[in-house]
Amino acid sequence: MWKQADLMRLIEERIKDYRLIVVSNREPYIHRFRDGRVVCERPAGGVTAALDPILRASGGVWVAHGSGDADRLTVDGSDHVAVPPEEPRYTLRRVWLSRDLEGAYYYGLANQGLWPLCHVAFVRPMFRPAEWAAYREANRRFADAVLEEAGEGPTFVFIQDYHFGLLPRMLKEANPNLVIAQFWHIPWPNREIFRTFPWGAELLDGLLGNDLMGFQLRAHVDNFMDAVDVTVESMVDREHTEVTRGGRVTRVRAFPISIDYDEHDQLARSAAVEAAMEEWRGRLRLDGTQRLGLGIERLDYTKGIPERLRGLDHLLAQRPEYRGRLIFVQVGVPSRLHVPAYRQVDEEVDALVESINWRWGEGSWQPIVYLKRHFGPVEMAALHRLADFCVVSSIHDGQNLVAKEFVSSRVDGDGVLVLSRFTGAARELVDAVQVNPFSIEELADAMEQALTMNAADRQRRMQRLRATVERNNVYRWAGKILHALLQIDFPADAEVS
Ligand code: F6P
Repeated sequence: MWKQADLMRLIEERIKDYRLIVVSNREPYIHRFRDGRVVCERPAGGVTAALDPILRASGGVWVAHGSGDADRLTVDGSDHVAVPPEEPRYTLRRVWLSRDLEGAYYYGLANQGLWPLCHVAFVRPMFRPAEWAAYREANRRFADAVLEEAGEGPTFVFIQDYHFGLLPRMLKEANPNLVIAQFWHIPWPNREIFRTFPWGAELLDGLLGNDLMGFQLRAHVDNFMDAVDVTVESMVDREHTEVTRGGRVTRVRAFPISIDYDEHDQLARSAAVEAAMEEWRGRLRLDGTQRLGLGIERLDYTKGIPERLRGLDHLLAQRPEYRGRLIFVQVGVPSRLHVPAYRQVDEEVDALVESINWRWGEGSWQPIVYLKRHFGPVEMAALHRLADFCVVSSIHDGQNLVAKEFVSSRVDGDGVLVLSRFTGAARELVDAVQVNPFSIEELADAMEQALTMNAADRQRRMQRLRATVERNNVYRWAGKILHALLQIDFPADAEVS
């Protein structure tokens, strides 16, 4: 079993002389003003949650956009702040972007161009030349910051996601000695879809500045290789999934990301979570006779929240016995609200909750408890533990870490995961009840299956799911990336089964 200590050992033995720099758009710690006080918050979203434990264990520098309104107040003269604030383990280097640049690079090209292009969730991508220029400019700003942090010594730069398609080439050109890897957390589309992106050749050239390019699934690797093959001059070796361009090799591999299983497991067993469960019982007025369903995500059109609510509506129409007894808690964390498609899904969810609650509500019971805000890890783990079932119904998702968090929190070995087939996680979590979220009937049936499954079946499935996430944890993900980079053999006991 690959544990945190194994990753530490690998770092110690093989890259201890390297400086480690992680780059992502979203920062792992955000300072904001709340009621006149500065508070430090953790953002919603899987990437920072997955990477933070690794940086806490290894130390290093994390370069990210300083997006909080109190961020400038908390850095030193080099734009550094030590984090986590309560027990500093690594350095956060903040990069500043003007409102206009953030609007065009992040809300524009990244989230109205690349995000819908890669997810193929039937939201039309927008490709605006001025936003592509802003994307280039933002990548340049991050390159300057990384080069400053790297200095002259041996440095390993680990870039996250679709915000930084041009950064690897910029870094490699400025300092060919940097060892650069990038992980693309979202899907990579097939080549017919990718052909619609007007700056495909420049984007691919940027990404081929990496020594190692990681995707969630082998299918995304294949799509990427196809795109490279038809778009840029290069040698594409499909057998070894490598691309040679300008005499330099980029290795392309699949590494399904995960979470810190042990940390979730331990938190879920804590007294703080027990106390939070008691609070939720009071707040939701649970007296032991109700059944509880759960959904937790950012309010994003890729997550299939309206589909799930329609599935619930269908279930209540077909199965009157659940009226008055089934409570579905939907946590929706507001996200990217400056993007029209996000405002639309936000409004759609509001309207659906209102109409479903109006249709089926009786006395003090309403089927959906909609909580439109971010909750901390303790409150979320408590909800995971209380739920009879958790629904992850993404239309398309690179991996989906909520599914893995739910499983890791089920220290009682019970509960059912209903999981969309179109998540990367579905490849590993085969003991979930898998669904096609485009079918309202299938969603309703899956929820019913979760509610009626016998205890032995539930526990057998949950045990296997937990064993899978425990084995394929985030340290193993990072370890495999390092191994691929160092081109050494991965220990036999940690091979993906
Ligand atoms: O992987 C998708 C991603 O964009 C991550 O980079 C991030 O953790 C998550 O979604 C949340 O999105 P944002 O940082 O745009 O709020």
